[in-house]
Amino acid sequence: MTTCDSSRAIWFCGKIIPANKAMVPALSPTAQFGLNVFEGVRCYWNGDTSMLYAFRLDEHLKRLEESCKLIGITLPYDNAYIRQAIKDVCVANNYRCDIALRITIFIGGEGSWHSSDPVDMFIAPIQKARNILSDSSGRSACISTWERIADSALPPRVKAGANYMNGRYAHLEAVRNGYDLPIFLGANRKVSEGAGACLFMVKNGVLVTPTVTSSILESITRDTLIELSESLSLTVEIRDIDRTELYLAEEVFLCGSAAELTPVTSIDRISIGSGSVGKITKQLSDFYFGLVDGSNQDGADWITSVNDL
Ligand SMILES: Cc1ncc(COP(=O)(O)O)c(C=O)c1O
Repeated sequence: MTTCDSSRAIWFCGKIIPANKAMVPALSPTAQFGLNVFEGVRCYWNGDTSMLYAFRLDEHLKRLEESCKLIGITLPYDNAYIRQAIKDVCVANNYRCDIALRITIFIGGEGSWHSSDPVDMFIAPIQKARNILSDSSGRSACISTWERIADSALPPRVKAGANYMNGRYAHLEAVRNGYDLPIFLGANRKVSEGAGACLFMVKNGVLVTPTVTSSILESITRDTLIELSESLSLTVEIRDIDRTELYLAEEVFLCGSAAELTPVTSIDRISIGSGSVGKITKQLSDFYFGLVDGSNQDGADWITSVNDL
């Protein structure tokens, strides 16, 4: 049995090969200019059913297609082909643990930043255990001095590798100044999102999250939590958020396929709510983890057994 280790196999340009043998050409637009689009799909292991479940795969593949369309790459693979590739790489590694799948579309040959072919793909499994919240899960954040990229410059709704350089500047600044992570404001000085995750706050018991036109990636986890909140009889407001509203919020958390639910317990050294992981954050996180591996059948429509791809 192979578990999540460094000897992993990767699906690379149509073949399953050892990850350390997968090479992108040095003169490719991807290596030179960071031209790629990608998805990070979480797959959760359920020990009771001995199954690995991909979470919201259809939505991730749809966003991959949309990212390709916006960045000017014609995706030469249909859903069935990508699903088979995912199955092949998971079977090759015989995973029996939680993982993330990085599905990356890149331009492989020699070319420039405006080249659009040849289009290639890799699918890399990455070891990633789920982050069950504890009392010490709270993170410190700062409001970044860097502004979130805008739809009019480098559209954040495209999940492109190059967009993450905006997150990099903000993250490095945050860590340099003693914080765990940054929160961006957009050009309108309203709250946008984190460097790799969307944001919710709880205000008077109501969940509030910025609109999809607030310079955010249209997060699948954000969408999931908006739907889940109904089952938990929680109200959600989707609207602009001022910076100072965050300081006065009862709870703040970030969310994403990688971030899952990440509680933020201080911002700019101002304590958020009680200064510890909030009740609603914990409630949503527990519910989320029940759904993602099929333990709670309410999420059955969102999970796909990797064996069935
Ligand atoms: C900038 C940014 N925002 C939000 C998210 C969350 O998106 P999703 O929930 O679809 O993973 C991510 C993670 O992929 C991200 O990189």
